[in-house]
Amino acid sequence: MSDAPIVAQKAPYPIDVTEGKTYFWCACGKSAKQPFCDGSHKGSTIEPIKYTAEADKKVFFCGCKQSHKMPLCDGSHSKL
Ligand code: FES
Repeated sequence: MSDAPIVAQKAPYPIDVTEGKTYFWCACGKSAKQPFCDGSHKGSTIEPIKYTAEADKKVFFCGCKQSHKMPLCDGSHSKL
């Protein structure tokens, strides 16, 4: 199994997060529950990234899995 992340989509996922809640962002790109982990990384060296919301707000989780500010979008998807 390859350990390079695959592109889930070339755009972020806008998500309304809840203050204090923890989310596990899919880093491998294989989850069927994007942008969150569903355990599909098993067997690879990729692990999900934990994100704890500091406030109730909308955040943009990276969908391309190439962001330098994981788990959030930094615009890297526009260069793919
Ligand atoms: S979706 Fe990955 S950097 Fe924007």
